[in-house]
Amino acid sequence: MNKAKFITFEGVDGAGKSTHLEWFANALRQRGIDLLVTREPGGTPLGERLREILLNHPMHAETETLLMFAARREHVEQVIRPALQRGTWVISDRFSDASFAYQGGGRGVALDKLEQLEQWVHGDLQPDLTLLFDIPIEVARQRLANNISLDRFEQEQGAFFEKVRQAYLARSQKTPARFAVIHAEKTRDEVQKILEKIVSSI
Ligand code: TMP
Repeated sequence: MNKAKFITFEGVDGAGKSTHLEWFANALRQRGIDLLVTREPGGTPLGERLREILLNHPMHAETETLLMFAARREHVEQVIRPALQRGTWVISDRFSDASFAYQGGGRGVALDKLEQLEQWVHGDLQPDLTLLFDIPIEVARQRLANNISLDRFEQEQGAFFEKVRQAYLARSQKTPARFAVIHAEKTRDEVQKILEKIVSSI
């Protein structure tokens, strides 16, 4: 039996990641894969409470970073690791790459602090595959424009998201073998064709 895979979905707000995640998860399930879909921040009862605070309550950038990793620690121990150990695949809507992009790139938290937290919280666990939905920020912003209520991150300006985008790309260049960078401004059908190829390959 193949080892259960840990797959993460990443990208700036408005890249369409969540819609594609649903399609991707269904495609894997149709192939008989036992699969758990989860998200960050969140994925556990405590993590969901931290998500509520993180998305709505103003705080210092390092407090935000620490809470993201606190929620992640719980998520890894309570959900991700147990699932992988029993042979269930895990797809997480965001993981540590989001902290490097949003807290590191967007907020300017020092890289070495993020690396220490990553090492502490899940030093021996990295995703097998990360799908990074990359999109020009103007297009992502237009997609968000129809949302009635925006959270604390979605309310940020274009310059913030440009830094987030660049930090995601830099992170993908550091370990390119783990990443599939998908040009998310393409039509839904075009993106699905790419996803279909990825599903077949894994
Ligand atoms: P979502 O809207 O994709 O569910 O993500 C919630 C927000 O949380 C999103 O704007 C990105 C942000 N976020 C971080 O800033 N750092 C992190 O480590 C994670 C997981 C999410």
